[in-house]
Amino acid sequence: MHQNEKLAILRRDRSEWDARWARPGMEAFWLDRELPPEVESMLDDGWLLPGETVLDVGCGDGRTAGALVRRGFKVTGIDSSHSAIRRGQRAFHDSEEAPVLRVFDICSSSGRLGRFDTILDRGCLHCIPEAILPDYFAGAARQLKPGGQLCVLYKTSSAAAEETADLVELLSRASAGPFECEYVISTEITGQSSAVPAVCMRMRQTETH
Ligand SMILES: C[S@@+](CC[C@H](N)C(=O)[O-])C[C@H]1O[C@@H](n2cnc3c(N)ncnc32)[C@H](O)[C@@H]1O
Repeated sequence: MHQNEKLAILRRDRSEWDARWARPGMEAFWLDRELPPEVESMLDDGWLLPGETVLDVGCGDGRTAGALVRRGFKVTGIDSSHSAIRRGQRAFHDSEEAPVLRVFDICSSSGRLGRFDTILDRGCLHCIPEAILPDYFAGAARQLKPGGQLCVLYKTSSAAAEETADLVELLSRASAGPFECEYVISTEITGQSSAVPAVCMRMRQTETH
């Protein structure tokens, strides 16, 4: 796919998210918790260690990023939606435990925000069209220190082993080069009253960019 076509898709998706985040009463089940149990499990399992630098990709209004700051992480949250970031910046106004929040498209922005220990992605990668996946992984690898990790929570339509296997194959193929898949578990993306099946993947950056 030509670069201009990719940019047009990203622009369209960004304005859809932007319109959604701009709604005053914006609701979504995945917004119900500050530190969802599927992220808490990453802490319990030692995937994320307090003191580390974390880039929360597709951070939305930054509530998970904020919860991680309160747990001792140094967190930057990025989202391609201006409305999401504005909402987060308003929410953390005056807070001493605020994450850094920036408008940044992980697929098309070429800058480097830092050399993070970990990238956390809860629900962003599954919004990225298949043709753009290599751009996502190249963009993610650029933000990590050599050997850094990318922890992804990716929504699936079912918990069927076959779907998980197909998805892992697709993501492993799209990320080959900058990343190596280390670990895959079935999990859920949760809210207070509902949850959807998901795959949790830990990938390791293999190249210095
Ligand atoms: C399902 S929401 C998840 C929000 C947040 N991670 C959470 O768990 O509450 C997905 C977010 O990814 C953002 N997003 C989608 N594509 C993106 C891109 N290319 N770069 C950065 N953010 C993106 C959307 O604007 C949206 O806020």
